[in-house]
Amino acid sequence: MNEMKKVSLVVIRRLPRYYRYLTELKESGVVRISSKALAEKMRVTASQIRQDLNCFGGFGQQGYGYNVSQLQTAIGDILGLNESHTTIIIGAGNLGRAIANYGSFEKRGYKLIGIFDNNKDLIGQEINKIKVSHIDTLEEFFQKQKPDIAILTIPKEVAVEIAQKLTQLGVRGIWNFSNMDLHMSVEGVEIENVHLSDSLMTLSYKIGQGVKK
Ligand code: NAI
Repeated sequence: MNEMKKVSLVVIRRLPRYYRYLTELKESGVVRISSKALAEKMRVTASQIRQDLNCFGGFGQQGYGYNVSQLQTAIGDILGLNESHTTIIIGAGNLGRAIANYGSFEKRGYKLIGIFDNNKDLIGQEINKIKVSHIDTLEEFFQKQKPDIAILTIPKEVAVEIAQKLTQLGVRGIWNFSNMDLHMSVEGVEIENVHLSDSLMTLSYKIGQGVKK
């Protein structure tokens, strides 16, 4: 990768999709691909791909296209996927369990090391070989393990309080599923608010409008 410019979040948000397609191509044995062929596969324009990748200095070679494996590794590096991250889940309910039991995150380098809840009936239960601990033991846990990312699958009423606690304890990222956007601005802590329902509402709009994309 050549010199890196300041890249907009809009471009960064497109990179996981490139990463997914390139991983599939690599797994099916494709060694190189032109921006045109990649664009057709991803249903975007070739110029968008070239522009996006140029933000990082460009990866393709004229007349050759992209080396799939190299590009996948480079995008993985940009996204921080080639280093592992430790994660914890706060809230061992329906969603917390589903995420804990989803194996693909671990394959991507996100290692689940703790699950916390405040419901005493859940404490000590095992989810994907990890025992649920009481939320009151969070501080002690951080002193020993310092997880990088906390996944919040708790009710919205307690999201701010728990997020504040996590930032004080030194978490580096919060993947927030609780039904409330967190907008804390704390140096060294990144937040990603996730709403599956946003995607569902977009789908219902498309159904209503007959939009094809
Ligand atoms: P759930 O009720 O099954 O699980 C919530 C868990 O949080 C419970 O086990 C509860 O004991 C625990 N909890 C409550 N207060 C706590 C505290 N102070 N400390 C530690 N644990 C605490 O709910 P479910 O279905 O798993 O949903 C969890 C959250 O995720 C809800 O806020 C829900 O609205 C949201 N959600 C968000 C989605 C999204 O796309 N962002 C999709 C589905 C749910």
